Amino acid sequence: MKRRPGPDAVTFRSLIRERFTRRQVLEAGLALAPLAAGSAGLLQAPLAVADGASALRFRPISGSKDDAIVLPRGYTFDIVARWGEALWSRSPDLDAAKLAAGALLSPDAAAQQRRQFGQSCDAIHFFPLDARGDRAILCVNNEYTQDELMFPGHPGTGGETVRRAVSDYVRKHREVVDVGVAAQGVSVIEVARTKGRWRFVKDSRFNRRITADTPMDVGGPARGAALMKTAADPTGARVLGTFGNCAGGHTPWQTYLTAEENIQDYFGNLEALRARSDVDARIVEAHRRFRMYRNNSLYGWENVLSRFDLPQEPCEPFRFGWIVEIDPHDPTRTPVKKTALGRFAHEGASPTIANDGRVAVYMGDDDKFEHVYKFVSSGKFDAKNPAANRQLLDRGTLYVARFDASGRGQWLPLVHDPKGPLNAAAGFADQGEVLIKARAAASVLGATQMDRPEDVEVNPANGRIYVACTRNEERTAVATEGTYAGRTLDKGPNIANPRGANPWGHIIEIQEAGDDHTALEFHWEVFLLAGDPAGGRLVTNLADLAPGRVSARDAYYAGYTNAADLSPIGSPDNIGFDPAGNLWIVTDGTQPNGNNDGCWVCPTAGPLRGRLQQFMSGPIGGEVCGCCFAPDGETLFLSIQHPGEGGSVLEPRSHWPDGPGTQPRSSVIAVRREGGGTVGS
Ligand code: FEO
Ligand code: CA
Ligand code: CA
Ligand code: CA
Repeated sequence: MKRRPGPDAVTFRSLIRERFTRRQVLEAGLALAPLAAGSAGLLQAPLAVADGASALRFRPISGSKDDAIVLPRGYTFDIVARWGEALWSRSPDLDAAKLAAGALLSPDAAAQQRRQFGQSCDAIHFFPLDARGDRAILCVNNEYTQDELMFPGHPGTGGETVRRAVSDYVRKHREVVDVGVAAQGVSVIEVARTKGRWRFVKDSRFNRRITADTPMDVGGPARGAALMKTAADPTGARVLGTFGNCAGGHTPWQTYLTAEENIQDYFGNLEALRARSDVDARIVEAHRRFRMYRNNSLYGWENVLSRFDLPQEPCEPFRFGWIVEIDPHDPTRTPVKKTALGRFAHEGASPTIANDGRVAVYMGDDDKFEHVYKFVSSGKFDAKNPAANRQLLDRGTLYVARFDASGRGQWLPLVHDPKGPLNAAAGFADQGEVLIKARAAASVLGATQMDRPEDVEVNPANGRIYVACTRNEERTAVATEGTYAGRTLDKGPNIANPRGANPWGHIIEIQEAGDDHTALEFHWEVFLLAGDPAGGRLVTNLADLAPGRVSARDAYYAGYTNAADLSPIGSPDNIGFDPAGNLWIVTDGTQPNGNNDGCWVCPTAGPLRGRLQQFMSGPIGGEVCGCCFAPDGETLFLSIQHPGEGGSVLEPRSHWPDGPGTQPRSSVIAVRREGGGTVGS
């Protein structure tokens, strides 16, 4: 039975949260003395006492089921890049009109895709090339492929029966895997703005495709580790490719971080590996924690590429699930897997410079009951010498979050120690193994099991950290022992994940002790409990978010009280901030009223803190991701991923972006005000 925090603790938090007078704030700060010791910052902690009216003045939209991008009056968008557009003029574009006839089953399709914008765009980051920001490099993740929207008769994704059919299809048509390898990874493109409109620049010297077999180096403590070695790479230091690239981040030294997320979907035959007597059972155990498939994988790559067949290459999966650093300004530079940041289903990585010059990177592990992490570098950022920063993410300490009652929290170090708890007896031979099995190490330390932490971002306006927990249908309303990913755990609510089933997700706000990003302690509160404020119950007091006291009908919008002002939301995924520090949220999944995914925004400070309103709605079946502002705040770049999900290439559900009679294509869009001006204002 899980120990629950006493109601007094939560009531005390609510006392702080009400925060109307300085005296109350001071009293709260004094009462938090154990955490606040030596830290004036906590007096400002999650207490949004900042004044200042919101600069958000757009007229919010209603949710939509239309197969279209819907924006507030006065806004428009450009399509910057579609899946399949060639990055170089001597290469052909994808002819989407021929998809249903099997164009991608042709022998040259994969080679062409290697020179085209990848599929299923996700994270976007903007690297300016001039002072005005009219030219820039965009790094865009291409997370995965939607094979049923690419190949006629492909069975799609599903349970074991579907996966067996996928294996049969792939064995007949290995082009599915070859195109899949070429369509994933990262697309690096130059973009330019002319008279307000954005387009991508063919033949730019920055254009680059990084795919699921691009050679990569390994940096950090797991470089050369025994578990990183394979027959093809006995050094454990050179890996082919990156895939499952979800959200990302960018460093202060202007490199791009891409996050390898659902890598388990490509590896098959864990049962056959388990049956081998010569394989260390702990390898099988580590793969179970990553939910590798017992037989056929989701995409069936093991049928044609032996390194994805677990019995043939048991350690290949340990070479994925990392953050990869890419230099967008130098297409010849080899990407590097940064193992010091740990291995898990990385959603993204958000670096920020701490007061003493060290670099903190905040990260989420997107699986049910997994964790929130922070890495702190040993070295300091050197603004004058970018090259000196290239190893900054190779040395430092990885921490995992434990959220405690009374709004406190601890960053627990994932450090190998012969005296324990992370030692050989616990299954961690050295620091490399701690990082490779970061999930298991976090469990040993007692980290808080979260509702699928997706994007974790630092608000540039106030330094607070926001964690989007997308949802968790397996979270139970009361303490319940159950199994997930091969381990037994309590699936009931906890202090930071208070809602059973949690069908709509939530967002947590963190403030580091002393506003110091290297701190070992923090202060936190629930910022948003997603849902339908008008159709259900709008909770306005944090005390009412105690574990087990909230249901799918409840929503909480940072204490905002007027439900009529608020837009319903579900499944928060990527988040971002405009230059004013407003929180922008894009979604992936079910909405409370069955509408399409979209984009929402709210202030994080002032009297309108938590007034979340819908800004944009996407096309049918499409997740909205990216959520990246140009530095002038006048363009919001969004990725429209998997429009038409649920359909097939023979029966498309969406015809976005090219209209009736066309196939859906994932694309990056640039949203702007007609006539110019700050987006949202
Ligand atoms: Fe790829 Fe967790 O979203
Ligand atoms: Ca995501
Ligand atoms: Ca983000
Ligand atoms: Ca997601």
